[in-house]
Amino acid sequence: MLYGKIRGLDKRASRLVLGTDSLWLNPFHRVFGRLEKCSCLNILDVAVEVGINTFDTAAVYGSEPLIGSWIRSRGCRDEVVVVTKCGHPSLITGRSRTSLRAVTADIHRSLRRLDLSEIDVLLMHYDDDEIEVSEIVGWLEMHRVAGNIRCYGVSNWDGYRIREAHRCAADNGASGLAAVSAYCGLVEWTQPMWPKAKSLAGRQGEETLEYCSQHGISILAWSPLSAGYLSGRTTHPRGWVRKRRYSQAQRIFDCEDNRKIRQRVETLADRHGVGSAEIVLAYLLGSRKEVFPIIGCGTAEHIRRNAAAVSVDLSMEEMRWLDVQSVDL
Ligand SMILES: NC(=O)c1ccc[n+]([C@@H]2O[C@H](COP(=O)([O-])OP(=O)(O)OC[C@H]3O[C@@H](n4cnc5c(N)ncnc54)[C@H](OP(=O)(O)O)[C@@H]3O)[C@@H](O)[C@H]2O)c1
Repeated sequence: MLYGKIRGLDKRASRLVLGTDSLWLNPFHRVFGRLEKCSCLNILDVAVEVGINTFDTAAVYGSEPLIGSWIRSRGCRDEVVVVTKCGHPSLITGRSRTSLRAVTADIHRSLRRLDLSEIDVLLMHYDDDEIEVSEIVGWLEMHRVAGNIRCYGVSNWDGYRIREAHRCAADNGASGLAAVSAYCGLVEWTQPMWPKAKSLAGRQGEETLEYCSQHGISILAWSPLSAGYLSGRTTHPRGWVRKRRYSQAQRIFDCEDNRKIRQRVETLADRHGVGSAEIVLAYLLGSRKEVFPIIGCGTAEHIRRNAAAVSVDLSMEEMRWLDVQSVDL
């Protein structure tokens, strides 16, 4: 496994992060196709086995209690890095929850569910540009100083708000953004995956990614396999939620240019004797040392195969061949 540094943490974080948005249980999990508890715990165990120590969750995902009980039962608190998110808009009304009150309530709820005294990395899940950046940074800094979180960042924010947040933190002697999370896959989407989701893929995201690299801000790249479009799989995954995400990805990523890139990924996969997923992950890991792809895996086999991406050595020429920006498709 490759490891990197997330500013503000005194332990190393695996460059491959395990996403957990479909690792949760409810009384109807069989009906809705959720993975059963033992297979969820097995997935977390296999992740550790291959060297992954960083886990992405959120107050709205439902995986926090599972991660909390897993950390307790395995006694691995000191070795793992937990990234969680707060302030997601109301799931019922869609109304913004970007307020000190909602953020504070989410942090305390996450601490309880994760059974932790401190969250390693806290991200604002979405932005609300009606609220001043300085105010939001002030809330996050307050929770850092209070010892509830070790460091903080933002997810699904526009580049100009990211730069403003980091600048404003520096001006006020605050620690600043440790991480930024966004879609930054190899191919661009034809429409956002969700109404407020933000992409830093392609040319449009280049300036922000460069800013993050220059300022030591880690880039937590969600849906690195474009939610399955570039994973190499040709059948639907198990589980209702995963199936729906995969079908959505086939729709919003499918266009002529992306098909050409997918074809190139497959050509390189054949050349290197690996799967498409390993090629895409090797590309993202090799593109910038600040990038931490957040992989979504429903099987132990996929985790093992994706972890093998760290050993795939793409040449400069191959990297360029995959880069949508530097080639004429
Ligand atoms: N901050 C945000 O707003 C935000 C938004 C979206 C996602 N996220 C985070 O990002 C994580 C990952 O998202 P994602 O699930 O869309 O990620 P992804 O890794 O881009 O795609 C997952 C899909 O690829 C398949 N796959 C994975 N490895 C494979 C392999 N080696 N061979 C073939 N197929 C493979 C999976 O199938 P299986 O399920 O069968 O393994 C699944 O269908 C989420 O869990 C969440 O933590 C954050």
